Amino acid sequence: MQAVERRRFLQFLAASPALASAGMTSVLAEETLEAHELAEHLIASPDDALDVFDFHTAAKRALPSSHYGYLATGTDGNETLAANREGFRNVYLRAMRMVDTREISLQTELLGHALESPVVLAPVGSQKAFHDDAELATAAAARARNHLQILSNVTSTSIEDVIATRGEPVWFQLYPTDQWPVARGMLQRAERAGARVVVLTVDLNAGSNRVMLGQYSRADSRDCMACHSGGFDQWINAKPMYAGAKLTEANLDTPGMTWAYLDRIRSATSMKIVVKGIVTAEDAAAAVDSGADAVYVSNHGGRAEASGWGAIESLPEVVAAIDGTVPVMVDSGFRRGTDIFKALALGADAVAVGRPYIWGLAAFGQAGVEKVLEMLDAELRMVMAQIGATTIEEIGSQHVGHRS
Ligand code: FNR
Ligand code: LAC
Repeated sequence: MQAVERRRFLQFLAASPALASAGMTSVLAEETLEAHELAEHLIASPDDALDVFDFHTAAKRALPSSHYGYLATGTDGNETLAANREGFRNVYLRAMRMVDTREISLQTELLGHALESPVVLAPVGSQKAFHDDAELATAAAARARNHLQILSNVTSTSIEDVIATRGEPVWFQLYPTDQWPVARGMLQRAERAGARVVVLTVDLNAGSNRVMLGQYSRADSRDCMACHSGGFDQWINAKPMYAGAKLTEANLDTPGMTWAYLDRIRSATSMKIVVKGIVTAEDAAAAVDSGADAVYVSNHGGRAEASGWGAIESLPEVVAAIDGTVPVMVDSGFRRGTDIFKALALGADAVAVGRPYIWGLAAFGQAGVEKVLEMLDAELRMVMAQIGATTIEEIGSQHVGHRS
């Protein structure tokens, strides 16, 4: 009986856009993880880390297998997850020498927000699955390092508490559900809490095939139902942003959502609207035509369709279609300052990371998130100095080339 319930819960997780899963073999495709896996390389404190992959190893050790699977998963055979990393190999750096780089600034601006760094914390749901301090640890780290935080509407902590900890408004990510009153209620609540920007995620409308989550869950001998006893419906309705919504699993999919949905959002809120999950020039143009204030290139960290198309490869056609009319953000696969630099050179205005800061969170709580942000900023500064760009503004297409 328990086994049946457990299986049902996992099926819900795998099928639902508001939840998710991870894979065995393709995590290794993320990079030199095998070497890092050696016990003697396991870091004991954030300051021991050489790169963000050290946090990956530590997070894998710290988490229950099923929760790690949720974090790591791609879809199908993790084709997009792998492409997100491999895509960077096709973009090379063109260093300009003899530039005075004694002073480097990462400061920039995005939709009226002054940012200390173009590195943004992508919305990641259910952070309590990774650390007891969850989104509050992330908010405290974002505050300490002064980075923009985007809060998932599947957050395990209320937006009011997160904003109080962050000390300034976060951006609010929306999965609208198929119930307009639920979406409207969340938008109004986020705006009341102080959010000025809503990020509408459009790339996960009807589930995704998260095989790797299933593999890691199967390898977990713990009884999921001991914590998730009420199954999916009870679990989702316990999320702070869905309080009182009385959702069932079926309500979470939004296969009927079209561009007209942006008008609906505008009718309910004066928050600016960012559309997350765009990978084509056609959709970039449609988003702008529909009044989006910014476009966010993303393949959901390889967790949506198994396109086999890396985010860094999707970025140029979106930038070309947008042609400077609105800001362009990007995420999916960014792990080093060099990766971030390449996206900025290709025309992105900001770059978000998901798993890297969650690896830090899982391994060391707030201190881990802070260190991941610090490392990415330091690496970006270093590559800027080396390539000859002293401000984010100065980074341009002259600094990269494409391998054909
Ligand atoms: C996500 N992502 C995500 N996106 C979103 O719009 N709302 C959400 O609630 C979540 N939840 C979520 C959970 C987990 C565990 C992961 C790994 C990702 C996607 C996220 O915002 C972002 O697009 C990717 O994480 C970026 O890819 P990397 O940096 O993880 O490779
Ligand atoms: C995920 C959802 C929550 O990727 O966006 O798991």
